[in-house]
Amino acid sequence: MLKGRHLVEPGDFSVEEMETLFSLAEHIEQDETYLRESCRGKVLATLFFEPSTRTRLSFEAAMLRLGGSCLGFAEPGSSSAAKGESLADTIRTAACYADAVVMRNPKEGAALLASRYSSVPVINAGDGGHHHPTQTLTDLLTIRQLKKAAGVAMAGDSPFLGLTVGCCGDLKFGRTVHSLIKALSRCPNVKFILISPEELKVPEYITGGILKKKGAAFLETSRLEKVIGDLDVLYMTRVQRERFFNEEDYIRLKDSYILTAEKMRLARKDLIVLHPLPRVNEIAVEVDADPRAAYFKQVKYGMYVRMALLASILGAV
Ligand code: CP
Repeated sequence: MLKGRHLVEPGDFSVEEMETLFSLAEHIEQDETYLRESCRGKVLATLFFEPSTRTRLSFEAAMLRLGGSCLGFAEPGSSSAAKGESLADTIRTAACYADAVVMRNPKEGAALLASRYSSVPVINAGDGGHHHPTQTLTDLLTIRQLKKAAGVAMAGDSPFLGLTVGCCGDLKFGRTVHSLIKALSRCPNVKFILISPEELKVPEYITGGILKKKGAAFLETSRLEKVIGDLDVLYMTRVQRERFFNEEDYIRLKDSYILTAEKMRLARKDLIVLHPLPRVNEIAVEVDADPRAAYFKQVKYGMYVRMALLASILGAV
């Protein structure tokens, strides 16, 4: 069903297609040998024009666990982009060597452009402050599995039905939040509480172009303490230093929100705390020991869902 498809933004896959990936990822979680050799002989190119730990390593781990191989670069200075090669030419070249391309690029729209020049599937690993669809697959799989484990989602029900999801931090530049909202706004009765300083509010193309258009309920506030008790999921994010035009603004805004054990006392017992990571200062280390902190489980789910994605787009399942 997903064989040969690009993934540029979350809307590229339907809710049903995502659910198929989650079922596959769940199968892999239960039996890590499942699909182990399914991509033998296949090659994945990972082209990272921006830093990454989790996304690049989880894609590479996923491909290796499926029996395939990886090539690529972790920073553009070691590629011919440093000599002025265009993105279109880099992608056409990578597509000669690989069966799929995973790319992160600081420019919004770079993944879409790459998909238009590539003869093999392109997976967007983050394009500027725009989208990060495989982080969204990771986030949704984590919520799904934790809700299922808690016995909340009844058989046949969507695990996302009726959730109140708080997104907190840099909602202007945070691409993970944009993708999460776009994907979750397709699920029934999901309510969003958008917690940010005025300068880092969710862009109008998300509030007007997605939430209002779909009739999704949302509330914007700057006060985490005021709303934390209403949330099923708290999605913390880092202030994106690399997207700021001046350092002074970053320094003024970087510690706008710090989730502490004291604030966690205001939250529900079944809250799920997520963070795409890397964390800088926005979650105190003391929160890591709280059973509601799920951001390192989220890292593992990221690998399982990327295994499911690669096996699917390469036609191995
Ligand atoms: N979540 C995420 O994209 O992390 P990295 O920047 O480490 O890839």
